[in-house]
Amino acid sequence: MPFQNRSHDFPLHADTSAVDNPDLAKATLNGLIEILLHDNLDFPRLKRVQVDGVFDRKLVHSIQYNRQTMKFFVRTYGCQMNVADSNEMSRHLAARGLVETVDPDDASVMLVNTCTVRQHAEDRAFSEIGRLRRWKAKQSGRKVVVTGCAAERTKEYLEDRFPFVDLVVGAKSIEDFGSMADRLLDRRATDEELDYAVPCVNDKIAAFVTIMRGCNYSCTYCIVPYVRGREIYHSMEQILGEVRDRVREGAREITLLGQTVNSYRSGDSRFADLLRAVAAVDGVDRVRFISPHPYYMTDRVIETMATVPEVCESLHLPVQSGCNTMLKAMARNYTREQYLGLVKKMRHAMPGMTLSTDIIVGFPGETEDDFRQTLSLIEEVQFDWGFVFKYSTREGTPAAKLGSYPEALIEERHQRCLELVDRIALAKRSKLVGTEQDVLVEESSFGRTRTNYKVHINGDVAPIALGEEVRLRIINAQRATLEGELQNGNVTFENFREKDADHARA
Ligand code: 5AD
Ligand code: SF4
Repeated sequence: MPFQNRSHDFPLHADTSAVDNPDLAKATLNGLIEILLHDNLDFPRLKRVQVDGVFDRKLVHSIQYNRQTMKFFVRTYGCQMNVADSNEMSRHLAARGLVETVDPDDASVMLVNTCTVRQHAEDRAFSEIGRLRRWKAKQSGRKVVVTGCAAERTKEYLEDRFPFVDLVVGAKSIEDFGSMADRLLDRRATDEELDYAVPCVNDKIAAFVTIMRGCNYSCTYCIVPYVRGREIYHSMEQILGEVRDRVREGAREITLLGQTVNSYRSGDSRFADLLRAVAAVDGVDRVRFISPHPYYMTDRVIETMATVPEVCESLHLPVQSGCNTMLKAMARNYTREQYLGLVKKMRHAMPGMTLSTDIIVGFPGETEDDFRQTLSLIEEVQFDWGFVFKYSTREGTPAAKLGSYPEALIEERHQRCLELVDRIALAKRSKLVGTEQDVLVEESSFGRTRTNYKVHINGDVAPIALGEEVRLRIINAQRATLEGELQNGNVTFENFREKDADHARA
């Protein structure tokens, strides 16, 4: 039966006995409760009980902290893994009765989730933390929480330089954030019920699920293994449970997250098994994963991508360099030839796939010739898009002992490499103009193709529901976000399905 989606602009209270189905209730960011009602639910019967969230098919409700108006603001730096961690910490705070706000002036708790992968990212976070001294002084009772990778790497320095920070939680301790938040908020830590009560604040169509933490690799430039530790894997049950939670909240697309996501293992299961299991969850239309390591792109993973319809034919596969000497110095555990072989195999299995990558320029010792090999690899592979990073020395990593090139040289290579990556990306995108693409609508006027191109939907999008898949004709591809047009005004995917069926019969 279709849901009727009603949101209310007053704090709605729900009777847990009447609404004992989690599909029916959903906490929203502003602390109000949005109820998804079945058409036949007798709404006015509901009694006044505060619903804090949904867990395990039961509503978690009605625990008063006198903190109803306390709000928190989260600033996130860094990668998708950090975004997922921020979401997780937000859920913990929401479970403790706090409400997320998008206005820092409105907040009493400020959480800065930091990144340390390159110096630039760390500098930005630190200057933001510096500014929070004044923010905190403006109102009594305000708290500053610093979390993430830079917090792990520089905990003592942070506490020294920013004594007004109330809590520092390193990336290795994110899973303990709940109990730390209890202490910060000075809340009695006895409510067992709340230890597992994680309200749904993540109402995204495309949701992220962390499947593992840490990294067992030791690429010589990378600080991640030091700040996030060795690999630990969530169990299949836990992951599938989270996937179901996200689907219940409205997700149609799941992106599995991990530092080397395809090295996942749990008992006898490997990453390919997990992909299949996630794809089989009811309501999951699309599955993606980031970031895989080339070493673990096994035949079984490729075959699963190619044969399981829900798994999208798009991959972000960091190569870092096209030169074997550099790959060796970086300890990447594959050669240029092996990477190229992998690309060939994947494109054979998934002819329409998109492939993107990460590249580091100016690694210590990279000669002009080495660098040109990276350019030639980019030409050869024809990546659909890519991220080019200037090498940044991270103290404590093996490469830090090798010194570094002058900024001007790194900058010059960065420009040349970016120019090539962008030129190829534009040529690839341009070929899409005039084609029809199935786009999963994530926001009112945005969606994504299966191949992971973001598409702006032109025209009247009002009739399209979020989470619906529509077929669009691509009309412009100058920018990274494509523009697409509905075929016949507001013809929806269902209608196209019919059209397809007619076509098949003809
Ligand atoms: N300098 C520059 N880029 C880096 N990356 C990781 N460490 C560094 C560093 N020290 C890049 C890699 C990785 C991406 C997330 O960040 O390309 O794939
Ligand atoms: Fe930054 Fe890497 Fe940590 Fe992500 S894992 S937040 S990119 S340092």
